[in-house]
Amino acid sequence: MSGTLTLNTDPFALAKELSGKHLINGALVAAVSGQTFDVVNPATGQVVAQAAKGDAADVDAAVAAAVAAQKEWKRRPARERGKLVAECGRRLTEHTEELARLVALETGKALRTESRVEAGVLADAFVFYGGLASELKGESVPFNPDMLTVTVREPIGVVGAIIPWNVPLMLMALKIAPALVAGNTVVVKSAEEAPLTVLRVCQILNDVLPPGCFNMLSGFGPDCGAPLVAHKDVGKITFTGSVETGKIVYKTAAERLIPVTLELGGKSPMIVMGDADLDRAVGGAISGMRFTRQGQSCTASSRIYVHADLHDAFVAKLTEKVNALKMGDPLDEATDIGTIISRDQYEKVKGYVEAGIKAGGTANACSALPTDPALAKGLFLQPVIFTDIARDAPPAREEIFGPVCCIFKFTDYEDVITEANNSEYGLAATIWTRDLRTAMNAAQRLEAGFVQVNQNLVVQPNLSYGGIKASGLGKEATLEAMLEHFTEKKTIIINMT
Ligand code: NAI
Ligand code: MG
Repeated sequence: MSGTLTLNTDPFALAKELSGKHLINGALVAAVSGQTFDVVNPATGQVVAQAAKGDAADVDAAVAAAVAAQKEWKRRPARERGKLVAECGRRLTEHTEELARLVALETGKALRTESRVEAGVLADAFVFYGGLASELKGESVPFNPDMLTVTVREPIGVVGAIIPWNVPLMLMALKIAPALVAGNTVVVKSAEEAPLTVLRVCQILNDVLPPGCFNMLSGFGPDCGAPLVAHKDVGKITFTGSVETGKIVYKTAAERLIPVTLELGGKSPMIVMGDADLDRAVGGAISGMRFTRQGQSCTASSRIYVHADLHDAFVAKLTEKVNALKMGDPLDEATDIGTIISRDQYEKVKGYVEAGIKAGGTANACSALPTDPALAKGLFLQPVIFTDIARDAPPAREEIFGPVCCIFKFTDYEDVITEANNSEYGLAATIWTRDLRTAMNAAQRLEAGFVQVNQNLVVQPNLSYGGIKASGLGKEATLEAMLEHFTEKKTIIINMT
């Protein structure tokens, strides 16, 4: 199979090419209403394209296409679907640089440190799930020797996926690749801040998949996301975003009695014991806080508890390292840190910094703002490391989704475990120590869906990912996630007498 799309690594030109469109039933189409909204480059404030402003009429069209396509898609042998999804992965690999540049343009995430990495994981998720197609197996049940009893895994039907802007490619891939392999068809509603790159992904995938299997809508949450969740022909919703919106989605889904997967926020703790390797722990705080992504991550290690023996050295080294990160044009290879996604997020993060200072915290602002006049209107914000801050100050308790972390000094292990678990969230946690017993003990007691010892890797295929408590419902990224969230189990009993 060869692609019909030409690579386009000029993100400004590509943004224009994709302007003002949904992708429904294999074709780029304008919104039924004809309306659009601005897509803004957060590094300059310039409008780079329009996005189609979807509403219930567009949802109807996309769901109808998905319903029609599913009839044939689900009848294909599982491995054939898997091969096509793996082929999507191969095709996405060819487009990695193009996608990385476009996502850097619309989200402000630095190309070298963030956007390229994300575009790579995107392709990998399709290859991974494509290979799992033959695992869509059922069981045989020893119920009665005269009755052959088996279970089979059937697709649910049409899956509605609602995605955020922070890692739109990867978070989308972890939803749609398993949904498609399992025999469902999909309608995605992109985040209003980042509609273009996921649309391009949809275009690339539609070069491989039959029309209608994978449809993409852009639009605002209440106008376009809400009717998708409420649509009578959508059989499953998978959502990543805020707790607040997650609850709205859950309530609507409850009315319709359809299953949901919710990937929500976090306030993840990082515990650095007195015997930890200081350099490794500081490196882990930088990657864990996603400073190069302006902290815009649900797993950000934003509560850092450091033993008194290491505290001052840790703060000094972390400050030095974050200071050395270069903030600038997201598309510049030399840039480590890009921008905040939107003016709203920018103001929200600044509000948390002010609230932390008001609560008596010491705010260390790091990493110089860019001086290039072309970036004067960009949403650049200095990362802030809070020390001497009260454990109940707003930046210490609430999800900020920005480059702000709080460092606390501790001496007592039991106290720090209690404090780490003292959060409504339970997404991720890390512990840094050379002592095996401490590591094992903490790993078992930390209330989180994703716990790491002496490292801070990002989520990737085959590692179960998702939260407990207010951080979500259901896990993603594994074989089990595909079976549990994108199929229904049916029992078949054949009486042989
Ligand atoms: P959001 O949860 O409102 O948006 C996420 C997605 O849900 C977007 O596609 C949006 O259009 C859609 N949406 C919004 N309202 C909806 C509704 N009523 N029905 C259906 N879909 C709807 O998050 P937002 O406004 O982008 O950011 C607010 C805060 O949420 C951030 O500051 C951050 O704390 C958190 N957040 C967490 C994310 C995560 O990965 N867990 C991702 C994005 C934001
Ligand atoms: Mg919102």
